[in-house]
Amino acid sequence: MENYRYPEAAGLVIFGAAGDLARRKLVPALYDLFLDRYLPERFAIIGIDLQPLNDERFRQRMRESVGQFSRRGKAEDATWHAFAQRLSFVSANFSDPATFTHLGQQLNDLDEHWNTRAIRVFYLATPPMLVEPIAQQLGKARLARDRKRTRLVIEKPFGSDLASACALNQVLTEIFDESQIYRIDHYLGKETVQNILAFRFANALFEPIWDRRYIDHVQITVAESIGVEHRGGYYDRAGALRDMVQNHLLQLLCLIAMEPPVAFEADEIRNKKVDVLQAIRSIEPDEVHLFAVRGQYDAGWIAGTWVPAYRSEPGVAPDSATETFAALKLFIDNWRWQDVPFYLRTGKRLPARVSEVVIQLRPAPHQLFPPSAVGDWQPNRLAINIQPVEGILIRFQAKQPGLRLCLGPEDMIFTYKQAFETPSPDAYETLLLDVLRGDATQFMRSDQVELAWSVVMPILDMWAATPPDFPNYPAGTWGPEAAEMLLTRDARRWLLPSFPVTQQSGMPAANQQPTPLLVDGRHKR
Ligand code: BG6
Repeated sequence: MENYRYPEAAGLVIFGAAGDLARRKLVPALYDLFLDRYLPERFAIIGIDLQPLNDERFRQRMRESVGQFSRRGKAEDATWHAFAQRLSFVSANFSDPATFTHLGQQLNDLDEHWNTRAIRVFYLATPPMLVEPIAQQLGKARLARDRKRTRLVIEKPFGSDLASACALNQVLTEIFDESQIYRIDHYLGKETVQNILAFRFANALFEPIWDRRYIDHVQITVAESIGVEHRGGYYDRAGALRDMVQNHLLQLLCLIAMEPPVAFEADEIRNKKVDVLQAIRSIEPDEVHLFAVRGQYDAGWIAGTWVPAYRSEPGVAPDSATETFAALKLFIDNWRWQDVPFYLRTGKRLPARVSEVVIQLRPAPHQLFPPSAVGDWQPNRLAINIQPVEGILIRFQAKQPGLRLCLGPEDMIFTYKQAFETPSPDAYETLLLDVLRGDATQFMRSDQVELAWSVVMPILDMWAATPPDFPNYPAGTWGPEAAEMLLTRDARRWLLPSFPVTQQSGMPAANQQPTPLLVDGRHKR
């Protein structure tokens, strides 16, 4: 059993500390960890960025960010001051070797002051093109050498295709040992995503039915109602397949499809995920249209507001061929999953913000009830809602009350909110703490990243080579018609979210209130 330890002392260096990620996610998450006493007494955060800020201005900015983005809301004076003492800022150029010499000196001074050898975390919250040069500079300044106490954290996107990801892995592993590299996929830090492992492997109830004999198909939906917001410049070079499928959706698929690990250990769990990625049937170029659908949103209604088409968003080319929607059908070629389709879809400007995995079971093998009793017959279904509800639903048939024999579907529902009083931590709290403890279980290993790229490469290549007919879905709808066809060809359909979620599509309602989405017509009651 691996032994992950809370460090006694740690210095966290954030490259790109004046940027969005540090402001919205990292510092608020660190503050929440501080409030919950998860950070060691001897802890320092050094922010580095080009902007001409000093410690005071940086602290002030971070306090505003915490007020806006921490799940605890505004910081109180006393706790904030205790936290802010640990924050400092260096205005410096990432390409200047002196920046790194100075940083090394600062970290040595902390060690001396704390009278220990602290854990050092270098968090690259920078645009992707800066990852390699910063890693090189860290190497040259001999800041990468100590394998046990030095860690490098890298945000996605990790490369922009298989070749660039391999090249980046090559460079990084010449400087750092693989065990020092933490490639973040923030979905893996979400409470409900982590719960998939507990749900599957801490219960004896589900594993016996978790295969092709009982499961008809799996649907993974990660829908967003937001557009590209202020990220048009980045997104237009990425698209839904690179931005969401290569990482978040494939990781969800791995958690659903993996074999039971022998132990809850980083490499064991990652090996099992790698097995899944390796078993995904590759898609031949001439078959891409049968397995993958792309879409781009047009103008439409979201939450009662008319929103512009993707091509009119800031930073987006007016003739952009970038997809804002992707749907895939994948097969996993192994004993457990042979011929069970995994349908994946994700998109921006869809009718609701909802991430859900649905395991659709096969119908009962023999129908012994008279047809008159089974009007609304539905096979069992298991839905894992990752957000916004954070819950699990099991749908089963039950006798409806009354003297006549009449069966109908009913839902058994578990939600985190109802079951626990404690609110879930933000994914970044979990992941930052894991890095400090040296637990890489929820991070992507180099082979995982590369295999995930291999899965999407035939689609990316084919899409790049063939001009799309965009835009092909209005904002506020569930994507292009071809996405429906992907399932209707298999005599199936995309399922609406299993939990009631707020519908964001449609024109303004008379009372301006968003209306609850009907779930297979079942929340009318
Ligand atoms: C990010 C993508 O990784 O995930 C964004 O780059 C997307 O485009 C975001 O909006 C979704 O994350 P969440 O946690 O809001 O579902």
